Amino acid sequence: MSGWQNKPFKMEVKEGDRLVLCSCGLSKKGPFCDGAHSREGTGKQPYFITIEEDKTIFICGCCQSSKAPFCDGGHKLLKEK
Ligand code: FES
Repeated sequence: MSGWQNKPFKMEVKEGDRLVLCSCGLSKKGPFCDGAHSREGTGKQPYFITIEEDKTIFICGCCQSSKAPFCDGGHKLLKEK
């Protein structure tokens, strides 16, 4: 079972947190990288993000965002199909 879903992942993050987020869509621990990009030879690399301030972020859960790894609202169009 993957962690992907047709809505964003809401996360409370703190200054200094480091996230390694999947960019290939193959991780079974979506939205976090599980190394599948390497095992599957995708040629992609995960997003390495360091949080600069305490805040709430919305990470794309549907792998369709044009602002990946952040949500751009595109999941709403998927539900309408
Ligand atoms: S598993 Fe997708 S980028 Fe690592």
